[in-house]
Amino acid sequence: MATAEPSVEADPAFRADVLAGLRSDPRAIPARWLYDLRGSELFEEITRLPEYYPTRTERAMLETHAAEFAEEIGPGRAVIEFGSGSSLKTPLLLRAIAPAAYVPIDISGEFLMDSAQTLSRDFPDLPVFPVEADFTKRVPLPYEVSRLPKLGFFPGSTIGNFVPFSGVDFLRAMKETLDIGAMLLIGIDRIKGEEELVAAYNDAAGVTAAFNLNLLERINRELDGDMPLDAFRHRAIWNDRLARIEMHIEAIRDVAFEVAGDAFTMAEGDTIHTENSHKYGPRDARVLLRAGEWTMRREWSSPGDRFALILAEALPPRTAP
Ligand code: AVI
Repeated sequence: MATAEPSVEADPAFRADVLAGLRSDPRAIPARWLYDLRGSELFEEITRLPEYYPTRTERAMLETHAAEFAEEIGPGRAVIEFGSGSSLKTPLLLRAIAPAAYVPIDISGEFLMDSAQTLSRDFPDLPVFPVEADFTKRVPLPYEVSRLPKLGFFPGSTIGNFVPFSGVDFLRAMKETLDIGAMLLIGIDRIKGEEELVAAYNDAAGVTAAFNLNLLERINRELDGDMPLDAFRHRAIWNDRLARIEMHIEAIRDVAFEVAGDAFTMAEGDTIHTENSHKYGPRDARVLLRAGEWTMRREWSSPGDRFALILAEALPPRTAP
């Protein structure tokens, strides 16, 4: 029986995803619900962990190859960033390529305005046109950038959080947003040794565990749940067949609980799948991009090929051969 009143108005989509996810076999809740305010703070902390190499590796690449980006991309493009985060990477790119405008797109208006303001302070001469929208669908861009050549920017290997099927849909939507002639600079995490991958998603300080288990606290708070936090633990598993890290929340004993008035049970060892992070080898990444109607133009990879930045082009559609 739940005891506390829900303190926050529940998002109906969150409620529907959690209830459906807890009833499904295997149990799974979409990863986007990990990112409430606390979840977003914990993710920022993750990006600074010694084990979590992607953020610092990609940032170092943006610094090291700045002159090559300038040469390959050229000045005067409108940079369209998909998911504007509180990224420290964007200024590195903007400084490198001298763009004509910057359009951050994000579903969270508050986050968007904050990062747009910070950026405008650092780049007072750069016109910034924030757009609040779901960037996984085609987004109409502001009139002011309609005639400018475009560069899409999608760093962080966030493409890895989509299953390939939806990743391809999303790449196509990006092409529709940006149009023929556009370029896309995308960060992609590589397949590497299991030990290193698992450590990056199960750090010694327990920050990723807190990030994952925060979902239970959110469910209890927002959906009037009574999931006992001490009955669960964080798991990060490398699924080699699907080339991805999976995050799960595992029951460490048989447990019964309620969420939004519905009753659930889990047996010891049962899990709720909360996130995928797909990794791509060089050819895998190029095929993924081509399936999404983007053709690789140039690729940069970090020392040891741990992480890649790929510059791709949206070419006019061609039929076989
Ligand atoms: C946001 N995304 C690219 C991160 C990743 O590496 O898949 C999310 C993350 N989850 C746990 N650690 C990091």
